[in-house]
Amino acid sequence: MILVTGGTGLVGSHLLYHLVSKKNTVKAIYREKSDLQKVKRVFSYYTDDFEVYFRKINWVLATLNDITSLQNAFLNITQVYHCAAIVSFNSKDYLEMRKSNIKGTTNIVNLCISNQIDKLCYVSSIATIEKSLNKNSITEKNFWNTSVDKSDYAITKHGAEMEVWRASQEEVDVIIVNPGVILGSGFWNKGTGNLFSKIYNGFKYYTTGVTGFVGVTDVVKIMIELMDSKLKNERYILVSENTSFKDLFFAIADTFKVKRPSKKVTKILSEIAWRIDLLKSSILNSTPMLSKYSARASHNKNIFSSKKIQMAINFTFEPLSETIQTTCGDFIKDQ
Ligand SMILES: NC(=O)c1ccc[n+]([C@@H]2O[C@H](COP(=O)([O-])OP(=O)(O)OC[C@H]3O[C@@H](n4cnc5c(N)ncnc54)[C@H](OP(=O)(O)O)[C@@H]3O)[C@@H](O)[C@H]2O)c1
Repeated sequence: MILVTGGTGLVGSHLLYHLVSKKNTVKAIYREKSDLQKVKRVFSYYTDDFEVYFRKINWVLATLNDITSLQNAFLNITQVYHCAAIVSFNSKDYLEMRKSNIKGTTNIVNLCISNQIDKLCYVSSIATIEKSLNKNSITEKNFWNTSVDKSDYAITKHGAEMEVWRASQEEVDVIIVNPGVILGSGFWNKGTGNLFSKIYNGFKYYTTGVTGFVGVTDVVKIMIELMDSKLKNERYILVSENTSFKDLFFAIADTFKVKRPSKKVTKILSEIAWRIDLLKSSILNSTPMLSKYSARASHNKNIFSSKKIQMAINFTFEPLSETIQTTCGDFIKDQ
């Protein structure tokens, strides 16, 4: 049986649908405050029989930091897909991120070892891949460099990867995927789903930074293919296209047939904006909208190579235009 963590999030919910539609028997962990309706909603983008597919999942109440509840989730498990993590660029979340992302992964790894799990797939991020100092595209061989300033999120994802490599030394086969920015349907109030909501509602700003993007369905299809293959103890960058935030925002606006964002945010403006936002949030005791890292990352120009995964499993990524088309279509259905 397969165990999925993070099944109530973007990646995990799409993964769950693909796993159950392939007739796998699946357990998924959820927390008391998790929204299982959102998982059903994601299933409904794929099929009218979403209730039937949803009922096939064996849901277990557990959190990454409660070992007793995890031990129960690990009963009769042979494969683990570990998607759960806190994704945040707010420095206030650093300790919480360390707890869930690093310590939580330590717990998952320890249970994989003690339960002699066959294979573990960990969803990491391109945040853990070192950026190139020259114009060469970034590959899996760009290893973590401690002398370069990193976001709190990247530090915790790297710490988790180290734990996963430990599993590989203890006779658990592992696969690490490092997706770029993931676009996909559902969860319109957070992450990249929020980007679709904002652009639909007339968001005005854009930057010209470049990074790697990938559709959520490609991410989960690749994860399943890697787990069902003999490949092990490798990490793979998953990026369908490298593009600028400007071009991405314009493509989303054009697909929605709404006005394109019209105000270019320069580096200087971003530097001022995150500082003002930080000051405002500390006075109002609220969560800042921008962080130093997200503001700076939106101007960086990084080109990622997906050659390794393309060669390993002969995979052809869906063009970003198709991912945007599907995601915008599902967004409109939900309005
Ligand atoms: N989204 C992206 O663009 C992107 C890009 C690259 C890599 N990733 C990685 O992909 C993975 C999935 O991301 P996502 O976008 O699907 O995130 P998401 O939508 O925010 O979902 C996060 C999931 O993790 C669960 N979770 C968080 N802390 C937990 C804890 N302590 N115990 C148990 N469950 C916990 C959440 O449960 P609740 O529903 O209960 O909150 C939710 O199911 C993460 O590892 C992330 O780092 C994401």
